[in-house]
Amino acid sequence: MTLQAIRYSAGNLSIIDQLQLPYVENYIPIRTSDEAWHAIKEMRVRGAPAIAIVAALALASELQTLVAYDQISSSAEEVQAFIIEKLQYLVSSRPTAVNLGDASRKLSAVVVDHAGRPESNGHSVATALIQAAEEMLAKDINDNIQIGAYGAQWILANGLDAKKSKATVLTHCNTGSLATSGYGTALGVIRALASTSKLRHAYCTETRPYNQGSRLTAFELVHDNIPATLITDSMAAALLAKSEASVDAIVVGADRVAANGDTANKIGTYALAVLAKYHGVKFLVAAPLTTIDLSTKTGNDIIIEERPASEVTKIKGPRDKSSTNEVEFETVCIAASGINVWNPAFDITPSALIDGIITEKGVVEKDAKGRFQLEDLFCDPSITAASVPESA
Ligand code: MRU
Repeated sequence: MTLQAIRYSAGNLSIIDQLQLPYVENYIPIRTSDEAWHAIKEMRVRGAPAIAIVAALALASELQTLVAYDQISSSAEEVQAFIIEKLQYLVSSRPTAVNLGDASRKLSAVVVDHAGRPESNGHSVATALIQAAEEMLAKDINDNIQIGAYGAQWILANGLDAKKSKATVLTHCNTGSLATSGYGTALGVIRALASTSKLRHAYCTETRPYNQGSRLTAFELVHDNIPATLITDSMAAALLAKSEASVDAIVVGADRVAANGDTANKIGTYALAVLAKYHGVKFLVAAPLTTIDLSTKTGNDIIIEERPASEVTKIKGPRDKSSTNEVEFETVCIAASGINVWNPAFDITPSALIDGIITEKGVVEKDAKGRFQLEDLFCDPSITAASVPESA
C-alpha cells in the first residue's frame, strides 16, 4: 500500500507525524487551522504541496465541525471574513513554499465569489470552501501521476546514452507521498521509472541538517521495494565521478519556481545542480503548477526561511535497541557548544543550471534564447502533452 502523509474523509483529517518517521508510524488528528499551523511550523508535515493541502483541509474540517454543531454564522460576509483571516494566518507558518500562498489565494477567490452571490449565506460559503479544499486534494494526486509519467519519458528520451535502456537517478530531500497528497513529484518520476522497469537504480541524499532524505525518502524507497542507495550530501560529487554508478539525471522538487525558472528548493539543491553541470548530467526540477510563481520574477525575490540553530547542532532519533522493539527517542549534541550557526532551509538554483521543469502539463525546456517561458503553461489551457518534446 502507498504511504499516506494525509488521511482525510468527510471533515476528519489526520497526518502522519513526520517527526517520528521512519521509526514510528503515528497519525495525529488535525481539527483546526491552529493545529495545522503548529503541525506545519514544527515540521510534523512538510513538503510544499503537502503543507498547502493540510492547511486547506484543516480549515475545511474546522468549518465542518462548526456547521455540524450549528455554530456557523448565518451571515455570508462574517463567514467570508472568518475564512480569510484563517487563511492569512495559515500562510504565515512557513514563508518559502509558494503552494500554501497559492492555495490561500484560490480558496479566498472561491469564498469571495460565493459570498457575493445573492442567495448566499454563511452555510453556503463554508460549503464552497470545503468543496474547493477537497478538490485540491484530488487534483494534487492526479498532477503528481502526470509529473511522474512526463519526467520518466523525458529522462529515457533525453538523459540516457544510446547503449542504455534504464535510468539511474539521484534525488534530494523528500518529494514523495509524504511531501504531497500522494505519489510525489521528483520521487514520483523515480516511481514511474520503477513501475515500468526502466529504473536501474535510485540514489537519495541524506539531506542535512533535517535528514528528509535518510528518514523519509529512504523510508519510501524501502517501502516500495525500489532499488536504491543512501549517500550523505558530501558524497554526491564522488558518486557522479564514478563511472560504475553512471548517474543519468538528478531530479529534485521545488518550493517555489520563479518566472524565469530560478528554483528555491531544499538546501543542497544548488550544489547538486553545479555538480550536474560539471559532470554533464541532466538536472531536472519536478513541480506542479501550484509551485510556479509568476509574480516572483527571479530567485533574488524569494524569501529563504532560516531555521533554528539546534537543527544543526543536535540530532534526534531512537536509541539503538535493535534487539528489542522498544523505541525511545533521544536528542544528542553533535557540535561544539557556543559555535555560531547559519541554517537556511532552502537555496536558489539559477535557471541556467536547470535542463527542464517537469509539470503536470509536460516538461518545459528553454527556448532558443536559453529562457524558460513558464507563463505559456498558464495562458494556454490547450497545452498538455504537446509541451512534452517530440523525442519523449
Ligand atoms: O523543509 P521541507 O522539508 O518542507 O522542504 C521540502 C523540500 O524542499 C521539497 O523538496 C519541496 O518542498 C518539494 S516537495 C514535493
